[in-house]
This record gives sequence, C-alpha cells and structure tokens, in this order.
Amino acid sequence: MHSIQLSQVSFSFSGEAPVLDGVSFTIPSGVTALAGPNGAGKTTLMRLMMREISPQRGTVQWQGFNTFGWLPQSLGPAVQSSGQQKMRRLSTLFREADGALFLDEPETHLDAVNRAWLAAALRRHRGLVVIASHDPALLDSAGTILHTEMGRVTAYSMPFAGYQSMIAHEKEMRAAKVDHAEHELKKSQRERRVQLERQLRRSANAAAKAPLAGIPRIARGIMKRNAEATLGKIISKNRKRGDAEAQALHSLREERGRSCEYFFAVPVAAESFLEIDRLQIYRAENQTLWRRPLSFSAKRGEKLHIAGANGSGKSMLFKTICGQNELPHTGTIAHKTGEIRLMNSTHTGFDPAATPLMLALAEGIAGDAGSARRLLGAFGFPGDAVFRRFADLSAGEKMRLRILLIGKSPRPASVILSDEAETGLDTATRGLYAGFLNAFSGIVLAASHDAAFILSLDLTNRVVLDTNPVMG
Ligand SMILES: Nc1ncnc2c1ncn2[C@@H]1O[C@H](COP(=O)(O)OP(=O)(O)OP(=O)(O)O)[C@@H](O)[C@H]1O
Ligand SMILES: [Mg+2]
Repeated sequence: MHSIQLSQVSFSFSGEAPVLDGVSFTIPSGVTALAGPNGAGKTTLMRLMMREISPQRGTVQWQGFNTFGWLPQSLGPAVQSSGQQKMRRLSTLFREADGALFLDEPETHLDAVNRAWLAAALRRHRGLVVIASHDPALLDSAGTILHTEMGRVTAYSMPFAGYQSMIAHEKEMRAAKVDHAEHELKKSQRERRVQLERQLRRSANAAAKAPLAGIPRIARGIMKRNAEATLGKIISKNRKRGDAEAQALHSLREERGRSCEYFFAVPVAAESFLEIDRLQIYRAENQTLWRRPLSFSAKRGEKLHIAGANGSGKSMLFKTICGQNELPHTGTIAHKTGEIRLMNSTHTGFDPAATPLMLALAEGIAGDAGSARRLLGAFGFPGDAVFRRFADLSAGEKMRLRILLIGKSPRPASVILSDEAETGLDTATRGLYAGFLNAFSGIVLAASHDAAFILSLDLTNRVVLDTNPVMG
C-alpha cells in the first residue's frame, strides 16, 4: 500500500505569508483531491508531496513507492490542441504508473467524452492518486477532499455535495463573525465618545465652580491640572485605541471586499460587428480543418457559444480572428472598430517578469499606483502580492488578473473571445467572470467544455465546429 505522510509542514515563499502553516496528515492509497480557492496553495502542496520542493519546517515521507507520474497544470505549446496533448499525457501516465500519480487540474481542456474517460480511468486505477481540481465531477470521484485555505488544510471524507455545503456553512459563519466584530467596534467607539463628552462637561463645570468655592489659588491650580491630565490621558488612550480599531476595521473590510461583487463597465465600441465568411484553415495542402467552410456573423450584444470536440479548431478559429494564426487559410473576416480581446490560458504576450502592478498601470486601469493597488487589493492581490512576478502567480490568479485588466481597461473593446478562460477559476471567480461576460455589451464568442458555465451565459446563438475526420 502506498501512502504519503506530512508532519508539521510549513512552507512560505520568501517574505510572503505562509502557504502552509504546520500541516499534518496522511494520504492513503486511492484518490485524494485537493480543492480550495485560486492561490490557496494546491499546486504548492502537490509539489511538496512530490518532494519537488522542500518545506521550511516539517517532513514529507513516502511509503511503499519511490517513483511518481505527474501531469503539471499547464502544458507547453504543441502542434496538437491542448485537449489532445493532455489526453496523450494522461493515457501514458495511467498505463505506465507504478508509483504515485499527481494530476494538477487534469480536466482542463478535456471535452465531455474525454472527461468521462478520465473519471473511468480514476475508478479503475489501483494505487495512490492526488488530483487538484475545480471540477465537481472529479472531486466527487475522490475518497477524501483536502480543502486548502489560508495556510490550513482540512480533510472532508464525504461526497462533493457534502463538502460543498460544509464549506458554504463555514464561509457564512466567518462572514457573520466579521459582521459581529464590526458591530462591536462601532458600539465601543460610540461609548467612548459619550464618555469623553461627559468628561469634558465635568472638567468645564469644575473650572467654573472652583473660584466660588473659596478654594485656595494653589489648590485650584492642582485641580485644573488634574482635570487636564485626566482629559489628556483619555484623549491619547482614545487615539491609540482608535488607531488600532481603524486598522482592525480596515482589515475586516478588506477581507469582506474580497468576497464582494465587482462591477465592470468595459467601454464598448459603437457599431461593433464581426463577420466570418467562408473561412477554411489548412492543416496541410489539400487537408482542410473543417468539413465545410465556416460562415457566421454577430453584432453588438450577441453572445455565441463556439462548440466542438477536442481538436475541432476552436482555439485555431480564435487565433485566426485575432490575426495570430500561422496556418494557411482562405475566406474573410470582417470586423469594425474597437479591440478584439482574446482570453485564454496561454497568456501569450505577457512578460513573465511583469508584476500585477506594472500590468495594471500599463493597461491604464487607474491613474496612479495608489488607486491601482486599491483595485488590485480588492481583487485578490492584497499588499505585496502586487509585486509578484506574473510567472509566479497561480493559474487562477493569472486569469483573475486578466479579468481585472480587461474589465477596468479604458480601451474600448468590441469583441471578447473567451477560449476556456473559466477553467481553473474557483467557483466564486468563475461566477464573477460569467457575470462580467454577461455585462459586456459588445460581442462575446465563448468556447468551453463546462456545461454549467455555458448555461450561465446569456447566449444568443451557437456555432458548432465540424472537423474533417482525416487526421494527420
Ligand atoms: N515564487 C513565488 N513567489 C511568491 N509567491 C508565489 C510564488 N509562487 C507561488 N506564489 C503564490 O503562492 C500562492 C499559492 O500558489 P499555488 O499555485 O499553489 O495556488 P493554487 O491553489 O494551485 O491556485 P490555482 O487554483 O489558481 O491553481 C499564490 O498566491 C501564488 O501567487
Ligand atoms: Mg494550481
């Protein structure tokens, strides 16, 4: 029997808050899933389990195996489509695995048929498998779900639905606690204001009465000084407490801000339209990608679902519309004013060394660094997270940053091409992204294998890509 034992494991990237803080548990044979919000540390935890990185404190021990297979979160560029590439890797991994198996978001890019194959492969597999995932169906196939959040890991040995309602309940409890703390802070501030006013009145009265009471001048001076000293103490104590409270309130609000709805107002070019006329792409001479040339059009306010199995050329279509396709093609693409924005997970054109703050300023989402940092902070990049390298961000964080960049950009967009941009987003961010696409009043073309996500879009039409069965 294989197992992995973590004892008192702490890990943090230099100068950052810990990703894991004194975590202990044992992973048995069978399927264990890692779940939790984007950036919570699923990939980091997986790399620790593979002993690819070492914890600053604690130990990671393997029992019953000494090799492992690994499917990383993002694959390199290849001739094949991402889905096909991933399937090749997965089938080799399952066939050859004799140690542990680590799959980081294996569902990404897989169409419905391939997802079903993966679920079956997991059921059949004997041995230890760890999967990081945001896919309810995959999480449901695990014996245990390890939820990672804020440096802690909690095990849920129950079906996905049970896990989900427990997480939701805990979130509500946390929100209620924040509300209560805020209420208590306001109450104590009010009470201290009343106390201060009372003290002010009292010392004013004492000063007014003192000469009439026939008290010697020297004693009067002492009384006055005493009253002033008491007042001074109260004021300085209040100020210190006020500072601490302001600080506490600020961090409470920041915590809540992260779960707040965010409103985007992307400027949309007037008169936007997109017209694809008899488009055909050639994989090789005389070998067309699609059975028939592709024609469709869309105007402002329309949202189209671009459907098709793995390898049907959805990403190819999007790249062609953006003018990034190097394969020969015929037909025409007409488009009027405004920018075409491609949202995909390859992040082509993003400098790996650029920081969220640099990117936000370059996009012009705010006039100065202070307001840019406030926006970034409310969008999941608090404090020094704005200085991380783009390359170091988690997969979901990269996409979340890109949503903010487009959502707050002053440049008018006319078309958004969403190429599975929702995969890898946690539930909350995925909902926010769907809301953003629905609020966008230009044209949206969306390719996705996530049925629930597609259902959450206000679609007006669907284009099905029909590939030529001749494969190279
Ligand atoms: N080299 C680094 N320096 C600083 N921070 C880093 C570095 N690498 C990762 N991080 C941060 O550590 C946190 C955990 O990242 P990780 O990739 O483990 O998250 P994840 O749970 O896998 O997220 P996702 O669901 O998006 O894949 C993130 O906030 C990320 O920005
Ligand atoms: Mg990850």
